Amino acid sequence: MQQVRIGMIGARGRGGIAKYWHKPDGRSVVVGAADIYPEKLEEFQQEINPDAFVTTDYRELIAREDIDAIAVTSPDFCHEEHAVAALKAGKHVFCEKPLAITVDGCDNILKAWQESGKKLMVGFNMRYMNMYRTMKEIVDSGVIGEIKAVWVRHFVGWGGYFYFHDWHANSANSTGLLLQKGSHDIDIIHWITGRYATKVSAFGGLDFYGGDKPNDLTCPACDERETCTEVSPGRLIECAFREEVNVEDNNMVIMELEGGIKASYLQCHFTPDYQRNYTFIGTEGRMENNELENKVYVWTRRSNNPRELSNRVYEIKEAKGSHGGADPNICKDFVDMILDGKMPVATPLAGRMSVAVGCAATESLRSGGGVVQVSPAPDAAVLQGSGN
Ligand SMILES: NC(=O)c1ccc[n+]([C@@H]2O[C@H](COP(=O)([O-])OP(=O)(O)OC[C@H]3O[C@@H](n4cnc5c(N)ncnc54)[C@H](O)[C@@H]3O)[C@@H](O)[C@H]2O)c1
Repeated sequence: MQQVRIGMIGARGRGGIAKYWHKPDGRSVVVGAADIYPEKLEEFQQEINPDAFVTTDYRELIAREDIDAIAVTSPDFCHEEHAVAALKAGKHVFCEKPLAITVDGCDNILKAWQESGKKLMVGFNMRYMNMYRTMKEIVDSGVIGEIKAVWVRHFVGWGGYFYFHDWHANSANSTGLLLQKGSHDIDIIHWITGRYATKVSAFGGLDFYGGDKPNDLTCPACDERETCTEVSPGRLIECAFREEVNVEDNNMVIMELEGGIKASYLQCHFTPDYQRNYTFIGTEGRMENNELENKVYVWTRRSNNPRELSNRVYEIKEAKGSHGGADPNICKDFVDMILDGKMPVATPLAGRMSVAVGCAATESLRSGGGVVQVSPAPDAAVLQGSGN
């Protein structure tokens, strides 16, 4: 095979990454899409490929013999059904994060993957961002020694917009935002330390959003739209203070990783600013990023060796493409995995383990904050060909 023919399930929203795959003269081409909304399919045809096959029934898409691979970019609660069906239909699969909204859902996907003999990867595009690649290289170089502690703060400015004006805000669709949004960060903690979390304890609450507004109230129809600080600025228009909202907007998790590493992840959805702040503390130094400055700082301990002289500041290079240049890279990796057999940076097991931590932490915070064991990785046979 010289060119991968891709079909999208979920034509718009995150399905917009189709533009990085649609290269009719290159190594991949997007030839179809399924979506439950016909207007999204029309937009997809206009923007990506006017000749693409489109359908409101994803089963028609995955049944096509002229499609090699499926990208699942539908909402979280659809991933298990769509990914399992596509693998069973003999397609390679790119599945957006979180891999599924339950651990069982992830394990069903891993089982279907193992039985299919096809390729699977998960949409952990943070692993492809220059900032976090740099931080991983620094840790892997050993300059800050053996990692003992990780502290992550995630200020989800605009949280109200992206997570409280649509399906994300109902736990039936997402389990919770520790899993939905936090799956990226939990994964980066796993990836950079090279260790998975084994137990967690968490606290959280719905402290700002939610309320008693009717579930069918939208921002354009609301009497308070001129004064409400959370009025929608875009396409997601459900009221952030509606009754059905039942996911936490303020979360704190502590975890113990294999090897005794301690980590914390703090997430808040009503901060005015947006940034992720990561600190890794090792036996020989400390590393911290600053997303607003686009820099990574490394401080090394005083010692009797040259490290004493080597505190450093890394200026992270800008890259072209959405999510700091990560999206074109993750899309390329998917194609390289299929055509060249390249091991993906964003592995299925990693997808499963971040969901396992998100679920365990959600269970903890909804039952008083006690320690919850993380569901360990499934049978080794399921993980053949999968890495950390
Ligand atoms: N890796 C990242 O940086 C990143 C960024 C954004 C979203 N995501 C992930 O992408 C997924 C989609 O998120 P989104 O914000 O684009 O959601 P969305 O609500 O915009 O939905 C995406 C598309 O799926 C379609 N869709 C909805 N239900 C469907 C169904 N049952 N069958 C087929 N299509 C359906 C929608 O009409 C839309 O076109 C989520 O899992 C999210 O976590 C990942």
